[in-house]
Amino acid sequence: MEKEKQEYEKISKLENVKVLISEKELQEKISLLGEQISSDYKGKIPVLISVLKGSFIFVADLCRKISIPIVFDFMAVSSYGNSMASSGVVRITKDLDYNIQGRDVLIIEDIIDSGRTLHYLVKNIQARNPNSLEICALLDKDVKGKIKNTIKYKGFDIPDEFVIGYGLDYAENYRNLPYIGYIENG
Ligand code: IMP
Ligand code: MG
Repeated sequence: MEKEKQEYEKISKLENVKVLISEKELQEKISLLGEQISSDYKGKIPVLISVLKGSFIFVADLCRKISIPIVFDFMAVSSYGNSMASSGVVRITKDLDYNIQGRDVLIIEDIIDSGRTLHYLVKNIQARNPNSLEICALLDKDVKGKIKNTIKYKGFDIPDEFVIGYGLDYAENYRNLPYIGYIENG
């Protein structure tokens, strides 16, 4: 209990947490992405595949800025464990519920770091023969040796910092912050 209390103190005070992208900036960009998606997919019913857990807040806000019919599915992959460093190992911990063959699929990602997770997902989803497959990512990190993926709908390019908030966690904490932040000296 003492340990939990100490953790609570540290996390709730948001010590060393700095704002990188404000709530307002996020919402403005998400409105634009929603408009773009609505216009590009007009006449179609795209399947938004949200990659859990990180993208749950992004997809929740984005979908309410989309004015055409859409359906949802969710996939969970694990690549990081609880640390800040990429292990390079991607594992599906929850697969899609629906058959996406012949559908117009849009993958919704929170952040692209090394690009490994996304690269794996694209190959995996492509193998199920969708009619089309595009990527929407809120954040794209500027890291060396990145695996290239074509991101049709992108929120923000960010520097190579570990970020938290708006769905993104550090050891499962901070996901509920309404902005994107980073931990100074973290
Ligand atoms: P990648 O495979 O290296 O591109 O890593 C992608 C996944 O790692 C993301 O979907 C996140 O879940 C996680 N991740 C990468 N960078 C960060 C970060 O700065 N903060 C929180 N999670 C991150
Ligand atoms: Mg993710």
